[in-house]
Amino acid sequence: MVGWLPTSDSRLLFVIGDPVSHSVSPAIHNRALRRLGIDAVYLALRVKGEMLGFFVSLCRLNRVLGFNVTIPHKIAVASLVDRLDDSAELTGCVNTVRVTSGLLEGFNTDVAGVEKSLRNAGFNGGGVAAVIGAGGGARAAVLALLSMGCRVVVLNRSRGRALELEKHFSERGLRVETRGLDHAQQVLKDADLVVNATPVGMESSVETPFPTEFLRRGQTLLDMVYTPHPTRLVKEASEKGLNTVPGVEMLIHQAAESFEIWFGVKPPLEEMRDEALRRLRS
Ligand SMILES: NC(=O)c1ccc[n+]([C@@H]2O[C@H](COP(=O)([O-])OP(=O)(O)OC[C@H]3O[C@@H](n4cnc5c(N)ncnc54)[C@H](OP(=O)(O)O)[C@@H]3O)[C@@H](O)[C@H]2O)c1
Repeated sequence: MVGWLPTSDSRLLFVIGDPVSHSVSPAIHNRALRRLGIDAVYLALRVKGEMLGFFVSLCRLNRVLGFNVTIPHKIAVASLVDRLDDSAELTGCVNTVRVTSGLLEGFNTDVAGVEKSLRNAGFNGGGVAAVIGAGGGARAAVLALLSMGCRVVVLNRSRGRALELEKHFSERGLRVETRGLDHAQQVLKDADLVVNATPVGMESSVETPFPTEFLRRGQTLLDMVYTPHPTRLVKEASEKGLNTVPGVEMLIHQAAESFEIWFGVKPPLEEMRDEALRRLRS
Protein backbone atom coordinates (compact mmCIF):
# COMPACT_ATOMS: atom_id res chain seq x y z
CA MET A 1 0.00 0.00 0.00
CA VAL A 2 2.29 2.79 -1.25
CA GLY A 3 1.53 6.24 0.18
CA TRP A 4 -0.76 4.80 2.88
CA LEU A 5 -1.71 7.20 5.68
CA PRO A 6 -3.66 6.36 8.85
CA THR A 7 -7.25 7.63 9.04
CA SER A 8 -9.70 7.98 11.94
CA ASP A 9 -10.79 4.38 11.25
CA SER A 10 -7.31 2.83 11.32
CA ARG A 11 -6.76 0.21 14.02
CA LEU A 12 -4.02 0.80 16.60
CA LEU A 13 -1.27 -1.46 17.88
CA PHE A 14 1.51 -0.59 20.33
CA VAL A 15 4.66 -1.86 21.91
CA ILE A 16 4.96 -0.55 25.44
CA GLY A 17 8.03 -0.57 27.67
CA ASP A 18 10.37 1.71 29.59
CA PRO A 19 12.61 2.40 27.73
CA VAL A 20 11.16 1.46 24.35
CA SER A 21 12.84 3.76 21.80
CA HIS A 22 15.35 0.98 20.89
CA SER A 23 12.53 -1.35 19.76
CA VAL A 24 12.57 -2.58 16.16
CA SER A 25 9.03 -4.01 16.53
CA PRO A 26 7.31 -0.96 14.93
CA ALA A 27 9.50 -1.31 11.82
CA ILE A 28 8.86 -5.07 11.54
CA HIS A 29 5.09 -4.89 12.10
CA ASN A 30 4.45 -1.80 9.97
CA ARG A 31 6.34 -3.41 7.08
CA ALA A 32 4.08 -6.49 7.34
CA LEU A 33 0.93 -4.34 7.69
CA ARG A 34 1.78 -2.32 4.59
CA ARG A 35 2.67 -5.45 2.61
CA LEU A 36 -0.68 -7.06 3.45
CA GLY A 37 -2.63 -3.81 2.94
CA ILE A 38 -4.10 -3.85 6.47
CA ASP A 39 -5.52 -0.54 7.73
CA ALA A 40 -3.64 -0.46 11.05
CA VAL A 41 -0.59 1.24 12.50
CA TYR A 42 1.90 0.00 15.13
CA LEU A 43 3.56 2.54 17.45
CA ALA A 44 6.13 2.45 20.26
CA LEU A 45 4.96 4.07 23.50
CA ARG A 46 7.06 4.61 26.62
CA VAL A 47 4.82 3.73 29.57
CA LYS A 48 6.15 4.15 33.09
CA GLY A 49 5.11 1.64 35.74
CA GLU A 50 2.69 4.03 37.46
CA MET A 51 0.86 4.63 34.13
CA LEU A 52 0.48 0.96 33.21
CA GLY A 53 -3.05 0.58 34.62
CA PHE A 54 -4.14 3.77 32.83
CA PHE A 55 -2.69 2.56 29.51
CA VAL A 56 -4.41 -0.82 29.84
CA SER A 57 -7.78 0.90 30.51
CA LEU A 58 -7.32 3.07 27.40
CA CYS A 59 -6.81 -0.07 25.32
CA ARG A 60 -10.40 -1.09 25.97
CA LEU A 61 -11.34 1.66 23.48
CA ASN A 62 -12.63 0.15 20.26
CA ARG A 63 -9.85 1.05 17.83
CA VAL A 64 -7.08 -0.63 19.80
CA LEU A 65 -6.43 -4.12 18.45
CA GLY A 66 -3.70 -5.05 20.91
CA PHE A 67 -0.15 -4.41 22.07
CA ASN A 68 3.25 -5.97 22.73
CA VAL A 69 4.94 -5.63 26.09
CA THR A 70 8.66 -5.34 26.70
CA ILE A 71 10.98 -4.72 29.69
CA PRO A 72 10.00 -4.14 32.50
CA HIS A 73 6.22 -4.78 32.27
CA LYS A 74 5.81 -8.42 31.16
CA ILE A 75 4.93 -9.72 34.65
CA ALA A 76 2.80 -6.72 35.70
CA VAL A 77 0.63 -6.89 32.56
CA ALA A 78 -0.21 -10.53 33.33
CA SER A 79 -2.23 -9.33 36.33
CA LEU A 80 -3.99 -6.52 34.42
CA VAL A 81 -5.60 -8.47 31.58
CA ASP A 82 -8.89 -10.39 31.70
CA ARG A 83 -7.68 -13.76 30.49
CA LEU A 84 -4.35 -15.57 30.00
CA ASP A 85 -3.64 -18.31 27.47
CA ASP A 86 -1.45 -21.29 28.52
CA SER A 87 1.83 -19.71 27.39
CA ALA A 88 1.17 -16.63 29.55
CA GLU A 89 -0.25 -18.56 32.51
CA LEU A 90 2.60 -21.08 32.59
CA THR A 91 5.33 -18.41 32.34
CA GLY A 92 3.56 -15.72 34.39
CA CYS A 93 4.61 -13.23 31.67
CA VAL A 94 2.68 -11.50 28.89
CA ASN A 95 4.36 -10.04 25.79
CA THR A 96 1.24 -9.84 23.59
CA VAL A 97 -2.27 -8.61 24.34
CA ARG A 98 -5.28 -8.94 22.03
CA VAL A 99 -8.28 -6.67 22.58
CA THR A 100 -11.65 -8.00 21.44
CA SER A 101 -14.81 -6.00 22.27
CA GLY A 102 -13.06 -4.48 25.28
CA LEU A 103 -11.79 -7.84 26.58
CA LEU A 104 -8.03 -8.16 27.03
CA GLU A 105 -6.34 -11.53 26.46
CA GLY A 106 -2.66 -12.09 27.33
CA PHE A 107 -0.25 -14.37 25.45
CA ASN A 108 3.48 -15.06 25.60
CA THR A 109 4.74 -15.40 22.04
CA ASP A 110 8.39 -15.46 23.23
CA VAL A 111 7.71 -19.16 23.89
CA ALA A 112 6.92 -19.81 20.21
CA GLY A 113 9.78 -17.45 19.30
CA VAL A 114 12.25 -19.71 21.09
CA GLU A 115 10.85 -22.94 19.68
CA LYS A 116 10.46 -21.76 16.08
CA SER A 117 13.88 -20.10 15.87
CA LEU A 118 15.50 -23.28 17.22
CA ARG A 119 13.59 -25.66 14.94
CA ASN A 120 14.37 -23.42 11.99
CA ALA A 121 18.07 -23.85 12.84
CA GLY A 122 17.71 -27.63 13.01
CA PHE A 123 17.48 -28.06 16.81
CA ASN A 124 14.38 -30.16 17.43
CA GLY A 125 14.65 -30.76 21.16
CA GLY A 126 15.63 -33.58 23.50
CA GLY A 127 18.90 -33.69 25.47
CA VAL A 128 20.09 -31.15 28.02
CA ALA A 129 19.35 -27.44 27.67
CA ALA A 130 21.22 -24.88 29.79
CA VAL A 131 19.42 -21.54 30.15
CA ILE A 132 21.49 -18.63 31.49
CA GLY A 133 19.28 -16.11 33.33
CA ALA A 134 16.03 -16.43 35.27
CA GLY A 135 13.96 -13.43 34.10
CA GLY A 136 11.06 -13.22 31.64
CA GLY A 137 13.05 -14.40 28.62
CA ALA A 138 14.37 -17.37 30.57
CA ARG A 139 10.83 -18.38 31.63
CA ALA A 140 9.76 -18.41 27.97
CA ALA A 141 12.80 -20.51 27.06
CA VAL A 142 12.12 -22.96 29.91
CA LEU A 143 8.53 -23.55 28.80
CA ALA A 144 9.48 -23.94 25.13
CA LEU A 145 12.33 -26.33 25.92
CA LEU A 146 10.29 -28.48 28.32
CA SER A 147 7.64 -28.81 25.61
CA MET A 148 10.43 -29.85 23.20
CA GLY A 149 11.41 -32.69 25.55
CA CYS A 150 14.62 -31.19 26.96
CA ARG A 151 15.95 -31.58 30.48
CA VAL A 152 16.32 -27.92 31.48
CA VAL A 153 18.97 -26.50 33.81
CA VAL A 154 18.74 -22.78 34.65
CA LEU A 155 21.93 -20.99 35.68
CA ASN A 156 21.48 -17.61 37.31
CA ARG A 157 23.62 -14.97 38.98
CA SER A 158 21.30 -14.47 41.96
CA ARG A 159 20.05 -17.56 43.74
CA GLY A 160 16.75 -15.93 44.81
CA ARG A 161 15.46 -15.34 41.28
CA ALA A 162 16.45 -18.85 40.19
CA LEU A 163 14.55 -20.37 43.11
CA GLU A 164 11.54 -18.17 42.33
CA LEU A 165 11.55 -19.52 38.75
CA GLU A 166 11.92 -23.12 39.97
CA LYS A 167 9.01 -22.66 42.40
CA HIS A 168 6.83 -21.00 39.74
CA PHE A 169 7.19 -23.97 37.38
CA SER A 170 7.04 -26.62 40.09
CA GLU A 171 3.66 -25.20 41.26
CA ARG A 172 2.44 -25.87 37.71
CA GLY A 173 3.77 -29.43 37.69
CA LEU A 174 6.88 -28.62 35.59
CA ARG A 175 10.38 -29.62 36.67
CA VAL A 176 13.37 -27.31 36.18
CA GLU A 177 16.78 -27.64 37.82
CA THR A 178 18.56 -24.48 38.96
CA ARG A 179 22.23 -23.72 39.72
CA GLY A 180 24.39 -20.68 40.37
CA LEU A 181 26.25 -19.17 37.42
CA ASP A 182 29.46 -20.46 39.02
CA HIS A 183 28.42 -23.97 37.86
CA ALA A 184 28.43 -22.86 34.21
CA GLN A 185 31.54 -24.77 33.13
CA GLN A 186 30.29 -28.06 34.56
CA VAL A 187 26.71 -27.72 33.22
CA LEU A 188 27.62 -26.34 29.78
CA LYS A 189 30.02 -29.25 29.19
CA ASP A 190 27.09 -31.70 28.99
CA ALA A 191 24.55 -29.40 27.33
CA ASP A 192 23.18 -29.93 23.82
CA LEU A 193 21.71 -26.44 23.79
CA VAL A 194 22.81 -23.22 25.51
CA VAL A 195 20.48 -20.20 25.72
CA ASN A 196 21.62 -16.75 26.83
CA ALA A 197 18.58 -15.12 28.45
CA THR A 198 20.54 -12.33 30.17
CA PRO A 199 21.14 -8.85 28.67
CA VAL A 200 24.92 -9.42 28.85
CA GLY A 201 26.49 -8.47 25.50
CA MET A 202 23.78 -5.93 24.66
CA GLU A 203 24.43 -2.60 22.91
CA SER A 204 28.01 -1.41 23.47
CA SER A 205 28.84 -4.07 26.06
CA VAL A 206 31.45 -6.48 24.72
CA GLU A 207 31.06 -9.01 27.50
CA THR A 208 29.82 -12.58 27.20
CA PRO A 209 27.65 -14.10 29.97
CA PHE A 210 30.22 -16.90 30.50
CA PRO A 211 33.67 -17.65 29.01
CA THR A 212 33.18 -19.02 25.49
CA GLU A 213 35.84 -21.66 26.21
CA PHE A 214 32.99 -23.49 27.98
CA LEU A 215 31.29 -24.07 24.59
CA ARG A 216 32.09 -26.88 22.15
CA ARG A 217 31.36 -27.91 18.57
CA GLY A 218 28.14 -29.94 18.26
CA GLN A 219 26.14 -27.65 20.55
CA THR A 220 23.43 -25.19 19.52
CA LEU A 221 23.54 -21.68 20.99
CA LEU A 222 20.63 -19.23 21.09
CA ASP A 223 21.53 -15.70 22.18
CA MET A 224 18.34 -13.75 22.94
CA VAL A 225 20.28 -10.48 22.73
CA TYR A 226 19.78 -8.98 19.27
CA THR A 227 21.72 -5.69 19.45
CA PRO A 228 24.44 -5.68 18.24
CA HIS A 229 23.84 -8.18 15.47
CA PRO A 230 25.66 -10.50 15.76
CA THR A 231 26.75 -10.34 19.41
CA ARG A 232 30.27 -11.25 20.51
CA LEU A 233 28.84 -14.47 22.00
CA VAL A 234 27.32 -15.51 18.65
CA LYS A 235 30.49 -14.57 16.75
CA GLU A 236 32.79 -16.54 19.05
CA ALA A 237 30.43 -19.54 19.18
CA SER A 238 30.21 -19.58 15.34
CA GLU A 239 34.01 -19.47 15.13
CA LYS A 240 34.12 -22.54 17.40
CA GLY A 241 31.78 -24.37 15.01
CA LEU A 242 28.56 -24.24 17.07
CA ASN A 243 25.14 -24.05 15.44
CA THR A 244 24.23 -20.46 16.38
CA VAL A 245 20.83 -18.76 16.50
CA PRO A 246 21.04 -14.94 16.84
CA GLY A 247 18.40 -13.05 18.86
CA VAL A 248 16.91 -11.51 15.72
CA GLU A 249 15.55 -14.94 14.75
CA MET A 250 13.63 -15.24 18.03
CA LEU A 251 12.52 -11.62 17.61
CA ILE A 252 10.93 -12.14 14.20
CA HIS A 253 9.31 -15.45 15.13
CA GLN A 254 7.70 -14.00 18.28
CA ALA A 255 6.57 -10.99 16.22
CA ALA A 256 5.05 -13.23 13.54
CA GLU A 257 3.17 -15.16 16.22
CA SER A 258 1.77 -11.91 17.70
CA PHE A 259 0.72 -10.74 14.24
CA GLU A 260 -1.17 -13.98 13.67
CA ILE A 261 -2.93 -13.62 17.04
CA TRP A 262 -4.13 -10.12 16.08
CA PHE A 263 -5.02 -10.69 12.43
CA GLY A 264 -5.51 -14.45 12.02
CA VAL A 265 -3.10 -14.52 9.05
CA LYS A 266 0.59 -15.35 8.75
CA PRO A 267 2.71 -12.25 8.08
CA PRO A 268 5.52 -12.19 5.47
CA LEU A 269 8.33 -13.56 7.66
CA GLU A 270 11.14 -12.94 5.14
CA GLU A 271 10.18 -9.28 4.89
CA MET A 272 10.05 -8.99 8.67
CA ARG A 273 13.55 -10.50 8.91
CA ASP A 274 14.80 -8.22 6.16
CA GLU A 275 13.39 -5.13 7.92
CA ALA A 276 14.78 -6.17 11.32
CA LEU A 277 18.26 -6.78 9.89
CA ARG A 278 18.17 -3.47 8.00
CA ARG A 279 17.33 -1.61 11.24
CA LEU A 280 19.86 -3.52 13.33
CA ARG A 281 22.66 -2.86 10.83
CA SER A 282 21.94 0.87 10.43
N1 LIG B 1 15.15 -11.86 20.91
C1 LIG B 1 13.99 -11.70 21.50
O1 LIG B 1 12.91 -11.79 20.89
C2 LIG B 1 13.94 -11.47 22.99
C3 LIG B 1 12.79 -11.75 23.74
C4 LIG B 1 12.85 -11.58 25.14
C5 LIG B 1 14.00 -11.08 25.73
N2 LIG B 1 15.09 -10.79 24.95
C6 LIG B 1 16.34 -10.29 25.53
O2 LIG B 1 16.76 -11.18 26.54
C7 LIG B 1 17.45 -10.47 27.57
C8 LIG B 1 16.82 -10.79 28.92
O3 LIG B 1 15.51 -10.26 28.94
P1 LIG B 1 14.51 -10.54 30.17
O4 LIG B 1 13.22 -9.94 29.81
O5 LIG B 1 14.56 -11.96 30.57
O6 LIG B 1 15.23 -9.65 31.31
P2 LIG B 1 15.01 -9.74 32.88
O7 LIG B 1 13.65 -10.25 33.20
O8 LIG B 1 15.45 -8.40 33.41
O9 LIG B 1 16.07 -10.87 33.38
C9 LIG B 1 17.44 -10.67 33.19
C10 LIG B 1 18.22 -11.87 33.74
O10 LIG B 1 19.58 -11.67 33.39
C11 LIG B 1 20.39 -11.76 34.55
N3 LIG B 1 21.48 -10.79 34.44
C12 LIG B 1 21.35 -9.44 34.24
N4 LIG B 1 22.58 -8.88 34.18
C13 LIG B 1 23.48 -9.87 34.37
C14 LIG B 1 24.90 -9.91 34.42
N5 LIG B 1 25.63 -8.81 34.27
N6 LIG B 1 25.51 -11.11 34.63
C15 LIG B 1 24.77 -12.23 34.78
N7 LIG B 1 23.41 -12.27 34.76
C16 LIG B 1 22.78 -11.10 34.54
C17 LIG B 1 19.49 -11.45 35.71
O11 LIG B 1 20.06 -12.09 36.85
P3 LIG B 1 19.69 -11.65 38.36
O12 LIG B 1 18.45 -12.42 38.71
O13 LIG B 1 20.89 -12.08 39.13
O14 LIG B 1 19.49 -10.16 38.33
C18 LIG B 1 18.16 -12.06 35.25
O15 LIG B 1 18.11 -13.40 35.57
C19 LIG B 1 17.35 -8.98 27.17
O16 LIG B 1 18.53 -8.61 26.50
C20 LIG B 1 16.18 -8.94 26.22
O17 LIG B 1 16.25 -7.88 25.29
C21 LIG B 1 15.08 -10.97 23.60
